[in-house]
Amino acid sequence: MLERLRRRHVPVRIGSRRGEPPFSWTDESTWVAALHEIDRVYVLHPLIGAPDTADQVARFSTKAAAAGVSRLVLLTAHGYDESPEQQAVESAGTEWTIVRPSWFAQNFDDDFMGFRTLLRDGNLTLPFRHAAFAFVDADDIADVAVAALTESGHHGKAYDVTGPESLDYFEVAERFSQILGRSIRYTPVTSEQFVDRMSDLGSPSDPGAVFAADDDVREAVAHGVNEALGHPPKSLDSYITTMAATGVWNPAAD
Ligand SMILES: NC(=O)c1ccc[n+]([C@@H]2O[C@H](COP(=O)([O-])OP(=O)(O)OC[C@H]3O[C@@H](n4cnc5c(N)ncnc54)[C@H](OP(=O)(O)O)[C@@H]3O)[C@@H](O)[C@H]2O)c1
Repeated sequence: MLERLRRRHVPVRIGSRRGEPPFSWTDESTWVAALHEIDRVYVLHPLIGAPDTADQVARFSTKAAAAGVSRLVLLTAHGYDESPEQQAVESAGTEWTIVRPSWFAQNFDDDFMGFRTLLRDGNLTLPFRHAAFAFVDADDIADVAVAALTESGHHGKAYDVTGPESLDYFEVAERFSQILGRSIRYTPVTSEQFVDRMSDLGSPSDPGAVFAADDDVREAVAHGVNEALGHPPKSLDSYITTMAATGVWNPAAD
């Protein structure tokens, strides 16, 4: 995001607990300074759907509008339609756009829920048998968000941002095997086994999102990338190919 906005010569303030001034969702006293002389905000809450989140987003959006913010772009999640967080942003009185992505492809190299380590070990394990997801490349999410922040024509739109195909984890493992040129297995596990595995890995994972998904659902492909940007989304294969070249999933890598 940052790199994309800077390339467009857009001045940016990072709203982070480590930013200057610092911003924290859980410390409302940090919000006014973070919003000072800000015109547009990319609203990303790490705990979308958690009990206090909609209230925080509502209070933040109201404060942002009062501080002079003219446009809010909210990131939520694919399938989380008409959420209370979305309604809060839509009713703040600013221009707004909602970006609802599927699972990020980048989770696989970010060690999201231990994925990077599992892939290095050659055995992906999750508590799914049938569920399929339309994995989206974070580059596409960032491009949609930047377009919504900087261009006209996106006000009042909710973009469901997914990749071009819906894949279950057996299919995901096959793609990794083909592209990495070594066997990557997929082993469905129980929720309890998954939690134990994550705990063994020392992963700071929040498995709530995984468990909330319905294992019978094959997530539909949506067309938000095309609608917002006028081109198709990147595939999971292209992501795996690009990242494989960095060695991130090599068994011997750190
Ligand atoms: N990962 C996925 O597959 C996926 C799929 C669909 C939707 N989403 C949504 O996308 C968003 C980002 O997901 P993610 O997996 O990238 O999340 P994440 O890595 O857990 O967190 C994103 C950022 O939230 C910031 N943060 C955490 N606590 C904060 C606080 N109290 N105040 C201010 N900032 C705080 C952190 O920045 P600092 O440490 O710099 O403060 C962190 O960089 C979430 O809303 C999630 O629901 C994710």
